[in-house]
Amino acid sequence: MNRVIVAGGAGFVGSSLALSIKRDHPDSDVIALDNLKRRGSELALERLRECGVGFAHGDIRCPEDLAAAGPCDLFLDCSAEPSVHAGYGGSPAYLINTNLLGTINGLEHARAHGAAFVLISTSRVYPIAPLRALPLAVSGDRLDLPADAAGPGWSRAGIAEDFPLAGPRSLYGATKLASEMLVEEYRAAYGLRTLVYRSGVLAGPWQMGKVDQGFMVLWASRHLYGGGLSYMGFGGHGHQVRDVLHVDDLYDILRLQLSDLERWDGSLFNVGGGAANSVSLRELSALCAKAAGRPLEIGGVAETRDADIPWYVTDCARVTAATGWRPTRSIERIVDDIARWLVDNRARLEPILR
Ligand SMILES: NC(=O)c1ccc[n+]([C@@H]2O[C@H](COP(=O)([O-])OP(=O)(O)OC[C@H]3O[C@@H](n4cnc5c(N)ncnc54)[C@H](O)[C@@H]3O)[C@@H](O)[C@H]2O)c1
Repeated sequence: MNRVIVAGGAGFVGSSLALSIKRDHPDSDVIALDNLKRRGSELALERLRECGVGFAHGDIRCPEDLAAAGPCDLFLDCSAEPSVHAGYGGSPAYLINTNLLGTINGLEHARAHGAAFVLISTSRVYPIAPLRALPLAVSGDRLDLPADAAGPGWSRAGIAEDFPLAGPRSLYGATKLASEMLVEEYRAAYGLRTLVYRSGVLAGPWQMGKVDQGFMVLWASRHLYGGGLSYMGFGGHGHQVRDVLHVDDLYDILRLQLSDLERWDGSLFNVGGGAANSVSLRELSALCAKAAGRPLEIGGVAETRDADIPWYVTDCARVTAATGWRPTRSIERIVDDIARWLVDNRARLEPILR
């Protein structure tokens, strides 16, 4: 890895991975390419510079911007419009042009330079209707599956890679599934070496959480800084569940696979926090109230948005069996890391997160 380009390298995941790669490979040239569309990404520039990561102000929709960033032997695609709600009620142009055409531009750049290609895909490739049809029931403060319930690609352990893919999955999810398919085709047609991660919710410091994306930081910041919060959808009770993966755990699997790319070339894994790291919004409120030292009054909006799903837990069995990797940072640790970061950087973060 002499030269690495991280598209979306000023974003939450991209900056975290770029900094970790630079830390572990100080002699590598690591370049973060970003158009700074996401509010708060500009805060990454100082961190990147201080750690020796280069910055290319560029747009993944423009092949010229990639060409200007120069050659590389690893291309990490972390640039995106990452909201599952994007495109509804308006034009999907930015979403499709960035997430899908941008991936194609990245693949072309990798092809031109013989670079390996990593795609951060998403659990939202799995279709909405069958996820909503899981036999969920309220148990305490969360939705849960019966102990012995299981079906094609799902069980109480979560959603596995063989969960059926037929049906709408959100415009966002479609851009990612189409990107996955093109990654596979570029590998078959041009011998590109590739890794794909279908990530569940990722969280940690430096995520610029907002109402439509990044709920862990949104929740923690509202508890610490103040401001309104609502449980949205599924009756407005906050029983919906997600598993959460610390962004440093994502780096751990990436590092493991990059260290022996010939072996892992072509892999596609679900990666997420798993059942042990799952949390409902109500449970998250309790964790955030503890971190902030006070509870927050939370409203409810009964109506469910188009792309919402009530429960998603990643079944990591395949990646764990193949590689030995498993998440190591608990949900409590994730909330603590976020809360400490919010307290330590309040002056810079509050104008962005409130
Ligand atoms: N955060 C999660 O929970 C999560 C879960 C699954 C998958 N992912 C995927 O991980 C990747 C990174 O997501 P994130 O959470 O860091 O989001 P983010 O919004 O924090 O980072 C994305 C970055 O891409 C930049 N960007 C947007 N449009 C661009 C364009 N046209 N050209 C260049 N840069 C552009 C933004 O300015 C931002 O800095 C995305 O592909 C996302 O779909 C994220």
